[in-house]
Amino acid sequence: MDAKIEQLRKLKEQALLGGGQARIDAQHAKGKLTARERLEVLLDEGSFKEMDMLARHRSTKFGLELQRPLGDGVVTGTGTIHGRTVCVFSQDFTTFGGSLGEVHAEKICKIQDLAMKIGAPVIGLNDSGGARIQEGVVALGGYADIFLRNTMASGVVPQISVILGPCAGGAVYSPALTDFVFMTKGTSYMFVTGPDVVKTVTHEEVTFEELGGAETHASISGVAHFAFDNEIETLLNVRKLMTFLPLSNREKPPVRPTNDDPTRECEKLRRIIPANPNHPYDIKEVIRDVVDEHDFFEVHADYATNIVVGFATLDGMPVGIVANQPASLAGVLDINSSVKGARFVRFCDAFEIPLVIFEDVPGFLPGTEQEWRGIIRHGAKLLYAFCEATVPKLTVITRKAYGGAYDVMGSKHIRGDFNVAWPSAEIAVMGAKGAVEILYRKDIEKAENKEQRTLELQDQYNVEFANPYEAAERGYVDDVIEPQQTRRELINALRLLRTKEDSNPWKKHGNIPL
Ligand code: HXC
Repeated sequence: MDAKIEQLRKLKEQALLGGGQARIDAQHAKGKLTARERLEVLLDEGSFKEMDMLARHRSTKFGLELQRPLGDGVVTGTGTIHGRTVCVFSQDFTTFGGSLGEVHAEKICKIQDLAMKIGAPVIGLNDSGGARIQEGVVALGGYADIFLRNTMASGVVPQISVILGPCAGGAVYSPALTDFVFMTKGTSYMFVTGPDVVKTVTHEEVTFEELGGAETHASISGVAHFAFDNEIETLLNVRKLMTFLPLSNREKPPVRPTNDDPTRECEKLRRIIPANPNHPYDIKEVIRDVVDEHDFFEVHADYATNIVVGFATLDGMPVGIVANQPASLAGVLDINSSVKGARFVRFCDAFEIPLVIFEDVPGFLPGTEQEWRGIIRHGAKLLYAFCEATVPKLTVITRKAYGGAYDVMGSKHIRGDFNVAWPSAEIAVMGAKGAVEILYRKDIEKAENKEQRTLELQDQYNVEFANPYEAAERGYVDDVIEPQQTRRELINALRLLRTKEDSNPWKKHGNIPL
């Protein structure tokens, strides 16, 4: 027996070395951690339980039968983050460049299947040369097996992709199907075709970083939700994200203790709205002042900055925050911000995370650029997402709620549960300037002093509409509250809505305007 145990130990020691010390050193030289080191940072100390450490590929082509490394280029298993179970895979670039063959794919699928059975998130650490060239169509089939499971798991367990090296070709579509994509600046990239192919086809000269680096995807394409400076920071932020999420759609999000007083007044909010309604302010200051310990975990921070989305807690209860940002494009809704908001709202709804909406929106962005690119169908995504969401929906109108955007942003009419406005709210079909020009064109033309007449009419319009009281009269807002009481009011409503039940009619699935 001792000899057999010794043999087992040797095998496992060999497996731990992946592609060998030289390749591990090369990985470190690039500023990258190995697959196992990454799991040590991601998971609670000592919690990782590996599966299929002794798996090997079965391929016999291109001399592969002579190289059958243990583990087949991916480390898989379970572990805990803050004591809660997660399923993980971590591609090992030191073995066949982390490329994906039949057995490598089988190992990932096994983890995905386990996650679905036990109700645990899947966190994938990606660092791979893509489909293992020597395994041909079998490798492509392996990707498809993973894509199918990504799709089946969508809305059932949270799926998080962390890109820590190359991720190219069809391989990008597994992360794209998951809920959140993290990238590390300088060492990770994602693209469908690399710079060489781009040059051949379009004659564009572009670097790896420009084409598909972390900053590109976090700010221009929106493919990445997060971009951090190094791998440690990236992985620690995955741990932070997990603190807001339930493990599956079978459970409620985790409530955590807080020392922040639920009745705390937000004094700063009394003075945050500028006297001039056309002047900006930073909605993130509002969010931070309201949430527990001023701790707001922003998602997609550098993409479509005219809408702000992210997680926080209120009296320990996780919430998803969606807020127009007056400090960026006046908070207008355009194509990118609509899509960004819609995707976030649907994630929160799928995982029972209540939505808190801060509204200050002048409307949808006009212009041919937006119209021709389809603001109508993209804006409809955000509307659809808010309409179908059955989680508690709490809306605070801080200032402008104009036009269709008023309806979209969690209004009462689309099943908003708790809708309040600050006294500074302006709820109307449009702003005074536009309205007066349409309603009183002839009147203004006839006036001796056109400018003065326009201002008089705008003042009249503002007295009539630039306030929350008509909406309050009709019950479209449940109350007009003093800004400093926002935190207390939201927490009261959230407590009340903990037992909320609502559902949508049976359907195979809806047809969101894609
Ligand atoms: C087999 C691969 C591999 C692959 C890398 N390797 N990619 N082996 N299949 N796809 C091996 C290399 O031979 C090398 O082995 C080791 O991994 C490290 O690779 P290097 O090239 O030395 O590393 P580096 O210089 O860092 O370059 C990394 C790289 C490059 C940019 C990823 O390896 C590369 O371009 N690989 C091919 C990428 C690709 O075209 N993949 C197919 C994409 S299409 P040794 O033994 O020397 O250490 C795809 C389709 C998916 O994935 C479809 C799903 C529907």
